[in-house]
Amino acid sequence: MADKKARLTVDGLDEAIELPVYSGTEGPDVIDVRPLTGNGLFTYDPGFVSTAACESKITYIDGANGILLHRGYPIEQLAEKSDYLEVCYLLLNGELPTAEQKEKFVNTISNHTMVHEQLSQFFKGFRRDAHPMAIMCGVVGALSAFYHDSLDINDPHHREVCAYRLIAKMPTLAAMCYKYSIGQPFMYPQNNLSYGENFLRMMFGTPCADYEVNPVLARAMDRIFILHADHEQNASTSTVRLAGSSGANPFACIAAGIAALWGPAHGGANEAVLNMLDEIGDAENIPEFIEKAKDPNDPFRLMGFGHRVYRNFDPRAKVMKKTCDEVLGLLGIENDPQLQIAKQLEQIALEDEYFVKRKLYPNVDFYSGIILKAIGIPTNMFTVIFALSRTIGWISHWNEFHSSPNKIGRPRQLYTGEQQRDYPA
Ligand code: CMC
Repeated sequence: MADKKARLTVDGLDEAIELPVYSGTEGPDVIDVRPLTGNGLFTYDPGFVSTAACESKITYIDGANGILLHRGYPIEQLAEKSDYLEVCYLLLNGELPTAEQKEKFVNTISNHTMVHEQLSQFFKGFRRDAHPMAIMCGVVGALSAFYHDSLDINDPHHREVCAYRLIAKMPTLAAMCYKYSIGQPFMYPQNNLSYGENFLRMMFGTPCADYEVNPVLARAMDRIFILHADHEQNASTSTVRLAGSSGANPFACIAAGIAALWGPAHGGANEAVLNMLDEIGDAENIPEFIEKAKDPNDPFRLMGFGHRVYRNFDPRAKVMKKTCDEVLGLLGIENDPQLQIAKQLEQIALEDEYFVKRKLYPNVDFYSGIILKAIGIPTNMFTVIFALSRTIGWISHWNEFHSSPNKIGRPRQLYTGEQQRDYPA
């Protein structure tokens, strides 16, 4: 498999250590550092900035050129021509479905959208003002207590059924979080609606009136789901893989992914963007916030800007920006004050030397928050929607991990604590 080799000389070692170098189908070569352990050495890479933790065939990102491919297909084409459930099928199975496969897949997902009635009791244990991500961590983990018939991680059929259940039930659970917070009854899913339509109805419909889904908003919702579907080995996906490596059940692993996503440096950024726009309050305060973001002694960062992998425009952000303009135009809310601040912030950051030099472009979360707000989704639900969309990525990676020979994840460390010493006499 290795077509090249690297040689590492280390002070104190007589001979150079030979390390195999592998080439993927795209992207930089990787050096296999495993021979180092036999020589008493580990690599040191906090934040995994230079480490490939696995081999994967699902998603490829070229951060320098702003390219994102799912199973080889560019994200822009998927956002334009596909729909979320088709992208789910693609991520899970490796190929786009035929018309027949697609119909079967959509029917299967539709038949799994309800959650066990007993699960709704869990919500009552939470305070009404609980953050919906806190509820999601709990109720998604709790699914493992309900679906015992699909928990054999070594059985490909069980893994498949778990994936279907998760894709289908996430919108139902997400909408239940919202309904619980506002004291309205839960809405049962309606299986003749599309994935996006169903979600909007469960969010905004009530049992006492017909709810007519706006097709423009349903399409925007579907696009938001597609643009968040997967992003290779980010913090939450790596968490899901790591939790899965111990043999934990898939619902518990996805709950771990939800917890990792929640932070403002990752999926929590979409909520943080809107909170930041609120805090800025008025366009005249923008320069003050830009200065704070640039001050190395101030922990404040411009939320929705920068990315670990992209050193160029995030391709998802480009599509999101277009969708954002469309939705706001159609809803006639171009003059929203938060939106005006966002537009000015974007312009200044794109021209400011600090951001230009560090290649800090607006990321997907910068625009998604604005669209979600226009759709009427409350800010604290934004990260829940990211989690709902990313579930397919998480479960596809979890399934890939279990479909080939694997090892428990167990990083090592550079120990800098006390040396061995005796307990005082
Ligand atoms: N505002 C101001 N300065 C920033 C920002 C920002 N948003 N992001 C990075 N920098 C600076 C950082 O201070 C550093 O400067 P210097 O070289 O002078 O020390 C330089 O840019 C490089 O930053 P870094 O911390 O080494 O970058 P990273 O790859 O570790 O962090 C990040 C990536 C996304 C965590 C970071 O850019 C950030 O905190 N952004 C804001 C939060 C955000 O929008 N997150 C969503 C990411 S996209 C959705 C997702 O995939 O989860």
